Amino acid sequence: MEGMIGMKTIVLYSSYTGKTKGIAEAVAQGIGADTPCVSLDAIPADIDTYECVFFGCYIESGFIDAKSQEILKTIHNKKVAIFVTMWIGPYSDDIAKRLRRIVEFLPQGCQIVGTYITPVDDAAGDQQEREHRLAADFAANTMHRLMSAQ
Ligand SMILES: Cc1cc2nc3c(=O)[nH]c(=O)nc-3n(C[C@H](O)[C@H](O)[C@H](O)COP(=O)(O)O)c2cc1C
Repeated sequence: MEGMIGMKTIVLYSSYTGKTKGIAEAVAQGIGADTPCVSLDAIPADIDTYECVFFGCYIESGFIDAKSQEILKTIHNKKVAIFVTMWIGPYSDDIAKRLRRIVEFLPQGCQIVGTYITPVDDAAGDQQEREHRLAADFAANTMHRLMSAQ
Protein backbone atom coordinates (compact mmCIF):
# COMPACT_ATOMS: atom_id res chain seq x y z
CA MET A 1 0.00 0.00 0.00
CA GLU A 2 2.82 2.39 0.84
CA GLY A 3 3.90 2.62 -2.79
CA MET A 4 0.50 3.84 -3.84
CA ILE A 5 0.77 6.82 -1.55
CA GLY A 6 3.68 8.06 -3.68
CA MET A 7 1.26 9.95 -5.90
CA LYS A 8 -0.68 12.56 -3.95
CA THR A 9 -4.28 11.65 -4.63
CA ILE A 10 -7.65 12.97 -3.50
CA VAL A 11 -11.25 11.92 -4.09
CA LEU A 12 -13.74 14.71 -4.84
CA TYR A 13 -17.42 13.99 -5.25
CA SER A 14 -20.81 15.53 -5.78
CA SER A 15 -23.78 13.68 -4.31
CA TYR A 16 -27.41 14.61 -3.76
CA THR A 17 -29.05 11.48 -2.39
CA GLY A 18 -25.84 9.84 -1.13
CA LYS A 19 -25.15 7.19 -3.77
CA THR A 20 -22.08 8.86 -5.20
CA LYS A 21 -20.81 9.66 -1.70
CA GLY A 22 -20.86 5.95 -0.80
CA ILE A 23 -19.07 5.04 -4.02
CA ALA A 24 -16.54 7.82 -3.41
CA GLU A 25 -15.73 6.42 0.02
CA ALA A 26 -15.21 2.97 -1.49
CA VAL A 27 -12.97 4.52 -4.16
CA ALA A 28 -10.90 6.26 -1.46
CA GLN A 29 -10.47 2.95 0.36
CA GLY A 30 -9.38 1.29 -2.87
CA ILE A 31 -6.73 3.97 -3.40
CA GLY A 32 -5.32 3.45 0.06
CA ALA A 33 -5.71 4.34 3.68
CA ASP A 34 -5.82 8.04 4.52
CA THR A 35 -6.84 9.15 1.03
CA PRO A 36 -8.93 12.28 1.55
CA CYS A 37 -12.50 12.02 0.29
CA VAL A 38 -14.39 15.32 0.24
CA SER A 39 -17.49 16.77 -1.33
CA LEU A 40 -17.22 19.59 -3.84
CA ASP A 41 -18.37 21.95 -1.09
CA ALA A 42 -15.26 21.16 0.95
CA ILE A 43 -12.39 21.22 -1.54
CA PRO A 44 -9.21 21.85 0.48
CA ALA A 45 -7.19 25.00 -0.04
CA ASP A 46 -4.13 22.95 -1.04
CA ILE A 47 -5.91 21.22 -3.93
CA ASP A 48 -3.15 22.35 -6.31
CA THR A 49 -0.66 20.11 -4.50
CA TYR A 50 -2.51 16.95 -5.59
CA GLU A 51 -1.27 15.17 -8.68
CA CYS A 52 -4.25 12.93 -9.14
CA VAL A 53 -7.98 13.50 -8.63
CA PHE A 54 -10.68 10.86 -8.57
CA PHE A 55 -13.81 12.80 -9.42
CA GLY A 56 -17.27 11.43 -8.65
CA CYS A 57 -20.49 12.88 -10.03
CA TYR A 58 -24.02 11.85 -10.98
CA ILE A 59 -26.38 12.38 -13.87
CA GLU A 60 -29.49 14.50 -13.48
CA SER A 61 -31.97 14.98 -16.30
CA GLY A 62 -29.44 13.88 -18.88
CA PHE A 63 -26.49 15.97 -17.71
CA ILE A 64 -23.87 15.79 -15.01
CA ASP A 65 -24.89 17.70 -11.92
CA ALA A 66 -24.36 21.47 -12.12
CA LYS A 67 -21.78 21.69 -9.35
CA SER A 68 -19.59 19.09 -11.05
CA GLN A 69 -19.82 20.94 -14.37
CA GLU A 70 -18.55 24.06 -12.64
CA ILE A 71 -15.67 22.38 -10.79
CA LEU A 72 -14.50 20.11 -13.62
CA LYS A 73 -13.69 23.20 -15.68
CA THR A 74 -11.30 24.39 -12.97
CA ILE A 75 -9.16 21.24 -12.76
CA HIS A 76 -5.87 21.92 -14.50
CA ASN A 77 -2.92 19.73 -15.39
CA LYS A 78 -3.84 16.75 -13.29
CA LYS A 79 -4.36 13.09 -13.74
CA VAL A 80 -8.10 12.63 -13.46
CA ALA A 81 -10.14 9.47 -12.95
CA ILE A 82 -13.88 9.99 -13.39
CA PHE A 83 -16.52 7.89 -11.74
CA VAL A 84 -20.24 8.39 -12.22
CA THR A 85 -23.46 7.04 -10.83
CA MET A 86 -26.51 7.07 -13.10
CA TRP A 87 -29.59 5.08 -13.97
CA ILE A 88 -29.28 2.26 -16.40
CA GLY A 89 -30.34 4.16 -19.51
CA PRO A 90 -33.01 3.09 -21.95
CA TYR A 91 -30.48 3.09 -24.80
CA SER A 92 -27.42 0.91 -25.00
CA ASP A 93 -25.12 3.84 -25.78
CA ASP A 94 -26.48 6.09 -23.04
CA ILE A 95 -23.65 5.45 -20.58
CA ALA A 96 -20.94 6.02 -23.19
CA LYS A 97 -22.52 9.29 -24.29
CA ARG A 98 -22.85 10.66 -20.76
CA LEU A 99 -19.27 9.73 -19.96
CA ARG A 100 -17.94 11.42 -23.08
CA ARG A 101 -19.77 14.63 -22.20
CA ILE A 102 -18.27 14.60 -18.72
CA VAL A 103 -14.77 14.13 -20.05
CA GLU A 104 -15.33 17.07 -22.39
CA PHE A 105 -15.85 19.41 -19.43
CA LEU A 106 -12.21 18.97 -18.39
CA PRO A 107 -9.79 21.57 -19.72
CA GLN A 108 -7.01 20.49 -22.03
CA GLY A 109 -3.91 19.48 -20.16
CA CYS A 110 -5.66 17.02 -17.89
CA GLN A 111 -4.92 13.39 -18.43
CA ILE A 112 -7.84 11.00 -18.06
CA VAL A 113 -6.41 8.01 -16.25
CA GLY A 114 -9.61 6.08 -15.63
CA THR A 115 -13.36 6.09 -16.07
CA TYR A 116 -15.92 4.09 -14.16
CA ILE A 117 -19.70 3.93 -14.05
CA THR A 118 -21.94 2.57 -11.33
CA PRO A 119 -25.24 1.91 -13.08
CA VAL A 120 -28.13 2.31 -10.66
CA ASP A 121 -30.80 -0.32 -11.09
CA ASP A 122 -33.48 0.16 -8.45
CA ALA A 123 -35.34 -2.92 -9.66
CA ALA A 124 -32.34 -5.12 -8.84
CA GLY A 125 -32.63 -4.54 -5.10
CA ASP A 126 -29.82 -3.58 -2.76
CA GLN A 127 -26.49 -3.96 -4.54
CA GLN A 128 -24.48 -1.70 -2.28
CA GLU A 129 -21.87 -4.14 -1.08
CA ARG A 130 -21.09 -5.31 -4.59
CA GLU A 131 -21.11 -1.74 -5.98
CA HIS A 132 -18.64 -0.61 -3.33
CA ARG A 133 -16.37 -3.61 -3.86
CA LEU A 134 -16.25 -3.03 -7.62
CA ALA A 135 -15.62 0.72 -7.18
CA ALA A 136 -12.75 0.01 -4.77
CA ASP A 137 -11.31 -2.43 -7.33
CA PHE A 138 -11.51 0.23 -10.02
CA ALA A 139 -9.58 2.65 -7.81
CA ALA A 140 -6.94 0.12 -6.78
CA ASN A 141 -6.42 -1.00 -10.37
CA THR A 142 -6.16 2.58 -11.62
CA MET A 143 -3.54 3.42 -8.98
CA HIS A 144 -1.64 0.24 -9.72
CA ARG A 145 -1.52 1.13 -13.40
CA LEU A 146 -0.40 4.68 -12.62
CA MET A 147 2.34 3.61 -10.25
CA SER A 148 3.74 1.00 -12.62
CA ALA A 149 3.79 3.56 -15.44
CA GLN A 150 5.98 5.95 -13.45
C1 LIG B 1 -34.35 14.21 -10.36
C2 LIG B 1 -33.43 13.13 -10.88
C3 LIG B 1 -33.13 13.07 -12.22
C4 LIG B 1 -32.29 12.06 -12.71
N1 LIG B 1 -31.99 12.03 -14.05
C5 LIG B 1 -31.21 11.03 -14.53
C6 LIG B 1 -30.90 10.96 -15.91
O1 LIG B 1 -31.35 11.77 -16.72
N2 LIG B 1 -30.12 9.93 -16.36
C7 LIG B 1 -29.61 9.02 -15.49
O2 LIG B 1 -28.91 8.14 -15.94
N3 LIG B 1 -29.85 9.07 -14.17
C8 LIG B 1 -30.64 10.03 -13.67
N4 LIG B 1 -30.91 10.09 -12.34
C9 LIG B 1 -30.34 9.06 -11.46
C10 LIG B 1 -29.15 9.56 -10.67
O3 LIG B 1 -28.07 9.85 -11.53
C11 LIG B 1 -28.72 8.46 -9.70
O4 LIG B 1 -29.78 8.18 -8.82
C12 LIG B 1 -27.47 8.86 -8.92
O5 LIG B 1 -26.95 7.70 -8.29
C13 LIG B 1 -27.76 9.90 -7.84
O6 LIG B 1 -26.56 10.20 -7.19
P1 LIG B 1 -26.50 10.73 -5.69
O7 LIG B 1 -27.25 9.75 -4.82
O8 LIG B 1 -25.06 10.77 -5.35
O9 LIG B 1 -27.14 12.07 -5.65
C14 LIG B 1 -31.75 11.08 -11.84
C15 LIG B 1 -32.06 11.15 -10.47
C16 LIG B 1 -32.89 12.16 -9.99
C17 LIG B 1 -33.23 12.18 -8.52
